[in-house]
Amino acid sequence: MLEVFEPACKVKPNLSTNALRVLEKRYLRRNNRGEVTETSEEMFRRVAHSVTRAELFYDTAANVQTIENEFFDLMASMEFLPNSPTILNAGTRSGTLSSCFVLPVPDSVEETFDTVKHTAIIHKSGGGIGFDLSALRPKGSSVNGRPYAAGGPVALANVLSSSADYIRQGGVRRGCNSMVLSVDHPDILDFVIAKADPNTLTNFYNSVAVSDHFMAQVKANGDYPLIDPHTHKITRWLSAREVFGRIVDQAWRTGDPGLAFIDRINRDNPTPSLGQLSAITGCGEQSLLSYESTNLGSINLVKMLKDSGDGLEIDFDKLAHIVPLAVRFLDNVIDINRFPVPEIECATKRTRKIGLGVMGFADMLLRLGIPYNSTKAIAVAESLMEFVTDTAHETSQQLAKERGNFPAWGDSLYARHNILMRNACCTTIAPTGTLSIIAGVSSGIEPIFASVFVRNILDGENLLEINPYFEEVAKARGFFTQELIEQLVTNNHLHSRTEIPEDVRKIFVTAHRVTPDWHVRIQAAFQRHTDSAVSKTVNFPKNATRDDIARVFNMAFEQGLKGITVYRDRSRDLQPLSMSETG
Ligand code: CDP
Repeated sequence: MLEVFEPACKVKPNLSTNALRVLEKRYLRRNNRGEVTETSEEMFRRVAHSVTRAELFYDTAANVQTIENEFFDLMASMEFLPNSPTILNAGTRSGTLSSCFVLPVPDSVEETFDTVKHTAIIHKSGGGIGFDLSALRPKGSSVNGRPYAAGGPVALANVLSSSADYIRQGGVRRGCNSMVLSVDHPDILDFVIAKADPNTLTNFYNSVAVSDHFMAQVKANGDYPLIDPHTHKITRWLSAREVFGRIVDQAWRTGDPGLAFIDRINRDNPTPSLGQLSAITGCGEQSLLSYESTNLGSINLVKMLKDSGDGLEIDFDKLAHIVPLAVRFLDNVIDINRFPVPEIECATKRTRKIGLGVMGFADMLLRLGIPYNSTKAIAVAESLMEFVTDTAHETSQQLAKERGNFPAWGDSLYARHNILMRNACCTTIAPTGTLSIIAGVSSGIEPIFASVFVRNILDGENLLEINPYFEEVAKARGFFTQELIEQLVTNNHLHSRTEIPEDVRKIFVTAHRVTPDWHVRIQAAFQRHTDSAVSKTVNFPKNATRDDIARVFNMAFEQGLKGITVYRDRSRDLQPLSMSETG
């Protein structure tokens, strides 16, 4: 039975109709007749109450009522939201609160099928999984002396995908999972085309792990060796440029695979003695060690603005208050989490990684009057994320004094520099696919998709979305009409609408009008100040060429991204958002 405090909080959740629809359909608790039994306010109360319980593990005299109310206000005001599984499951029987997991794929049938079983258990309770298939012996290798017996990485990928389809993520959401294969694996060319048929490996994003050496060979037009992970022998030499070209070709066709810059990822590995980071989570925002899981949370940047008297500006004082609360919240989540299997509990509690990020970046820029594709936007991204990460680290250090370092601290780079730390990683930029709908803001650090569009979500249900700031500006400046909205939904381009003032058209730049180079620059600006990775899709127009994609892959490497995912307009049948403003 959920024990509920007398609410003494300041905030009532103020949700848009679309957000309420999403909550009702997926998040609010139901009775066994399927009827919704909680309000959004009760939902946030349930989460706040549950997350606050962790305070008592460290201080039996903690002022839990005050802390619970602070956590409630944090969420109900939409200033910060934890990832979907935490909202869904905190204070319920299922209790798994993490979004991201990584499972090992060792080169042994017994252990691999333990992973298949763990995959099913995780999918049952929600959450996406990252797999690195690089340790598997190549297809057709001998097994125990029997020739041509090994199925290889692509065959196992299909087994994992079928398991995911079978479970369908507990019926709550279909998960995104990711598979990585090292570019020097003998089956790499099969892996590159593993998703050429759009009906295979649905639910999985594939990435090729490329080393700095490989990228240098692409540049130098050199060859590189394929190495059998089982025998450690070189099986063949390939032209790096040829393989890179195949990856580019497939990414141009379908958006898949992406690249994972594996040496760059491992330069930020806080615990190299525990193992190399090789798998990445579903949407690319985290690289974790085997069995680690992470809980994410995102600060709504639209709520981090204040009026300076001379226009809006970022409210760093407010951020300095919100970030520590959010870090404390996420650290608590680790302690109240019910982990799907014991190995995951053990690995997660060893490093206590959390992933605090941001959402609504593009919507914040709109209000600041800064175009997304501008050097000013890069400067904002840098100063903002630097502040978030520095403050998160300070909070984690403070928590370490109160609660102790993460248990593997002694083996970490922090110990070498004698820096206390509660969480081996603090910041991550998640996609915030659902959170941003609940908060009513642009997702993660992506540009706005359109000013007016139809969101195709909730199992086929369509929701009309008008960017709230567009509506506000359009009404204030007298060009808001029902006709304009209808036309923008059906077939008109914002940038060619002459009744819309030019300065407005310039600011409301949409994902399709931001050139790929600007997408990468913004991603890189955030990456420079983020502990883990940054989830982002680099959009290309339909008429982009393979050379365009190759150039941006190289740029992503040079700019220090940890990975890159591209999407050429209409290259995949199913698009989550539909609109006509594609120009
Ligand atoms: O907004 P929300 O908290 O629902 O999730 P997100 O930020 O869009 O995604 C965060 C992570 O959750 C992804 O990288 C995946 O690991 C996982 N996820 C998933 O497994 N299935 C989904 N349908 C969406 C996200």
